[in-house]
Amino acid sequence: MNDESFEKYVEAGAIASRILREGARGIRIGESYFDLVESIESRVLEEGVSLAFPLNLSLNEDAAHDTASPADTRIFERGDVAKLDLGVHIDGYIADTATTVDLGSNSLLLAASEQALEAAIRKVRPGATSGELGAAVQNEIESRGYRPIANLTGHGLDRYVLHRAPTIPNVGINGGMVLEEGMVFAIEPFSTTGSGHVGEKSRMEIYSQISQKPVRIPAARAILETVKDRHGLPFSRRWLKERKQDIVLPALVRSQTLHVYPVLSDIPGSLVSQHEHTVIVTADGCVVTTR
Ligand code: CO
Repeated sequence: MNDESFEKYVEAGAIASRILREGARGIRIGESYFDLVESIESRVLEEGVSLAFPLNLSLNEDAAHDTASPADTRIFERGDVAKLDLGVHIDGYIADTATTVDLGSNSLLLAASEQALEAAIRKVRPGATSGELGAAVQNEIESRGYRPIANLTGHGLDRYVLHRAPTIPNVGINGGMVLEEGMVFAIEPFSTTGSGHVGEKSRMEIYSQISQKPVRIPAARAILETVKDRHGLPFSRRWLKERKQDIVLPALVRSQTLHVYPVLSDIPGSLVSQHEHTVIVTADGCVVTTR
């Protein structure tokens, strides 16, 4: 990695970290979910940097991929466990970081994902394997009486690329990828009181463009025009002005022009906590860009 890209990763990380911490303070009982999401996304744009994906704000058994819908009326309630997952980029160099806010009495659940993240970060160095990181996450969470979510993983990052090798599992696996100096990836343990596996809900708020093939329907063209500067990075239904989106978005998914990210949830009534940092592997360990 050259100095310029390293600096952009570090700067994106510092901005994401600051905005995430400030934003988390806005999650309070009685406050509007929609207003919080919009205010944090606005803060990112005011910094002169870009969103790598819509702000994810997933409550309780929902682990990931929820965000405000265009007319979202939700209010934070006592007992909510709220995961904020923020991605920003500078010229495509991405920082991905998440934290959880507890509006109930779940501090031990939160500590499990937070300490699992720290345990995994301590393992990062050239020659370590992604499987060793997963084992560190699993041990930390299970020793505290919770389950890691086995089918959610951390992921390698590249310029304008949100998911690439290496995959960083949240459970111990044999082998996995050998880490090398210069690799950039997000580590994101999830601890849960539920089953340890997520499934897809019918709720869909986040999409990305995966094909450039031409479309004829004017409403579909208008949507693709709105998102053409995303470089394939995810966008939110809420960002679109097109009124026919309820018909057009599913059609664009069926024609494999768009990919959809349904909300991912553990079993009803369970609670999920998440913490995430982005790291760059160095000669003797790593730099955490999102501290
Ligand atoms: Co991530």
